[in-house]
Amino acid sequence: MQYIVKPAPLRGGCIAVPGDKSISHRALMLGAIAEGDSLVTGFLPGEDCKATLAALRSMGVSIEELDGTTLRISGVGIHGLQPPAAPLNMGNSGTAMRLFSGLLCGQAFATTLTGDASLSGRPMARVIDPLCRMGASIDSNNGLPPLTIHGGRKLSGIVYSLPVASAQVKSAILLASLYAEGHSNLVEPATSRDHTERMLQCFGAKLETADGEIRIPGKQVLQAADVDVPADLSSAAFIMLAALLAPECEVVLRRVGVNPTRSGIIEILRQMGAAIEIELCPSNGPEPVADIRVRSSALHGVDVDPSLVSLAIDEFPVLFVAAAAAKGRTRFTGIGELRVKESDRISTMAEGLRRLGIQVQETEDGASVFGGAFTGGTVASHGDHRVAMSLAIAGTVAASPVTVLDTDAVDTSFPGFVACLRAAGADISIAQAPPTP
Ligand code: S3P
Repeated sequence: MQYIVKPAPLRGGCIAVPGDKSISHRALMLGAIAEGDSLVTGFLPGEDCKATLAALRSMGVSIEELDGTTLRISGVGIHGLQPPAAPLNMGNSGTAMRLFSGLLCGQAFATTLTGDASLSGRPMARVIDPLCRMGASIDSNNGLPPLTIHGGRKLSGIVYSLPVASAQVKSAILLASLYAEGHSNLVEPATSRDHTERMLQCFGAKLETADGEIRIPGKQVLQAADVDVPADLSSAAFIMLAALLAPECEVVLRRVGVNPTRSGIIEILRQMGAAIEIELCPSNGPEPVADIRVRSSALHGVDVDPSLVSLAIDEFPVLFVAAAAAKGRTRFTGIGELRVKESDRISTMAEGLRRLGIQVQETEDGASVFGGAFTGGTVASHGDHRVAMSLAIAGTVAASPVTVLDTDAVDTSFPGFVACLRAAGADISIAQAPPTP
């Protein structure tokens, strides 16, 4: 599939984007290994979370889909997963593969985790190393997928300083810790999203966080809990930027998760001059939820504070577009992790923006983007959902149509992206890719 975006700025409105991807994965996994039934509302039915759901079903967990976004998970208990009949396919999802690595090394059976071409090139040593130090045995293709996790090993707690700020690595270790003998203590080099810590506590796990250190006792059991998944701030970010760039536009995004370990995008856009208001909503779960009101704003370039990087790690593609539309230069530093996401996002975004007439200078772990005006043109997404959506947003305010190639991956995180943008006034359509010669 490809997108054809004709210049038509957003008109505005009240928009509900789908549920949070990170929280949906975690609700599935914790619900599956808890005792009792957990009800999940606001679930994201994207391809990544569906991979997690299918994997759990193939390990004997009954998950009833009451409607597209409501699930009842019949937990099998901490030791209740069954060996799957075949390798588990994680599709495009780094979160699924890394979190399952931690969960599965606590099981009595062996499992193989595979993924698509993008996931098969993503580094897994970052989870293999600490898990093997805990006693796990994991085979990989030189640190890359597929992974075979040999269960049945005795796990021990670990004292570990994460070399990268990664919620996926932290979560893999926390999940393995539930099966380990003794405490684990984790320290991160910078704060990463803390959804696992918050949700584990809702499922009755003991866990303490103080002064940037997480301490979790081993050998725990979980009790079922209901999870109300807020809308995904990472998906909302695309609509927020489209609204900021459109003239005389006001958009309200409904019931979005605004966990402070995720909300760096709001801080960075505000520093660039964005008018964004947060109206907190009542929340009956551990995650803060808000309506986000965004008004058209003239953005200006900034030096993005590297301390905000881990709090906005998935929003750099859209921030590159914000920088391209801003007045002056925006400098990104300390964003080397972007090179190992679904694509090398520093280079795929630089390439896409250059094709739209924007000057970008790349460094090893950063980029300078010089604000300008978007021409039209054809841009490659490199199969990366967030690159595809970011470049589509540029198209809403470009001089002529923008065609974004290879957009199927958008369904991994934001099913309904096109309908959502159209409802707010954008002129975006989906076309079949021409047959390859
Ligand atoms: C995620 C953590 C982040 C993020 C990913 C989702 C999670 O990855 O990029 O999209 O759900 O834990 P890292 O923790 O590896 O940075």
